[in-house]
Amino acid sequence: MKKVILGKTNELVSRISLGTWSYGGANTTGEMAVGWAGQKDEDSRLALQRAWELGINHWDTADVYGDGHSETIIGSMWKNIPRKDIFLATKFGWSMGNYAHYYHPKHMRIQFENSLKNLQTDTVDLLYLHHCNFGDSEEYFDDANELLHKLQEEGKVRFIGLSDWSSKKIMKFIDRVNPDVVQPYRNVMDDGYASSGLKKWIEKNNAGVCFFSPLKHGLLTGKYHAPVTFPDGDFRSNIPDFQRWDVLNAMRDNKKNVEIRFQGHPQPVLHGLLDSLLTDVSTGCVLLGQRNVQQVEAASSLGNPLNKKDYDWIKSNYLIRR
Ligand SMILES: NC(=O)c1ccc[n+]([C@@H]2O[C@H](COP(=O)([O-])OP(=O)(O)OC[C@H]3O[C@@H](n4cnc5c(N)ncnc54)[C@H](OP(=O)(O)O)[C@@H]3O)[C@@H](O)[C@H]2O)c1
Repeated sequence: MKKVILGKTNELVSRISLGTWSYGGANTTGEMAVGWAGQKDEDSRLALQRAWELGINHWDTADVYGDGHSETIIGSMWKNIPRKDIFLATKFGWSMGNYAHYYHPKHMRIQFENSLKNLQTDTVDLLYLHHCNFGDSEEYFDDANELLHKLQEEGKVRFIGLSDWSSKKIMKFIDRVNPDVVQPYRNVMDDGYASSGLKKWIEKNNAGVCFFSPLKHGLLTGKYHAPVTFPDGDFRSNIPDFQRWDVLNAMRDNKKNVEIRFQGHPQPVLHGLLDSLLTDVSTGCVLLGQRNVQQVEAASSLGNPLNKKDYDWIKSNYLIRR
């Protein structure tokens, strides 16, 4: 697996890194589905083991993935895998506990201490603020930011990060947090990363960047032939595109084109969709959700950025066919 220096962290991480949201299993917050159904712990463990063997050395989780279950699965792996071999990232900020807001510092501290226990480690390599909703007048921002930096000073966190689905929101807070690493949403059809100015900020500040949901949760692969009904607790039931014939058909057409264009590659579709996200990025990686050994092995053939011509081709292909 190709590696990259994650900006100013100076850490060498796999170009295709491992997202473990699904390892938390099906989950809900109130009425809202926030997990992934049908995940077997044994598949998660085998995938982690294989990822380590293949050099996928950066694993991303969060306190809320299965309310700690994803972290616990990772924590169970140090019997077989040296902890020092893995660049381990977690997040806090989406659990509210009994407080009035997600970013209450007392609750955040408790959540973080639980993450360390679940992960069976004294230190995480990277800790993110999971989102940028800091209250109507940003009243929770200062305390949350202070706690993040304090945990770093205490030596419990090596590097600090900032994340959100919206790159625009990240831009609102980025100078005040001054993160080592940023985690934005990015895929071939959505480039708020560049249009928001975040890309420029990353380059100017030599920050690391990790793109999440690069396959739009699997939708972009073109593997769906008809609208899908996901089981209870599966986050994908909130994504309208999984119900739209026109979108699913367009993704299947795109898949055929990409398979022809990159027919010499063992994973032509993933190569087009994921390696294109690396073309204009020299300090970052893609966080791909890999649910089993087969998906890890497919990921291991990736990580070579597309050239500019192929990059332009794939972008126009997906923009036109949406
Ligand atoms: N910071 C944030 O707010 C945030 C938000 C979302 C995600 N994330 C992070 O980013 C990671 C990845 O995002 P994501 O899980 O939303 O989605 P994703 O990476 O876009 O898609 C992952 C899904 O694509 C399918 N897939 C993967 N490899 C495949 C292959 N070789 N062939 C066919 N299908 C394949 C799998 O679904 P099936 O097997 O079910 O088809 C897999 O669960 C998460 O795990 C998490 O760590 C962070």
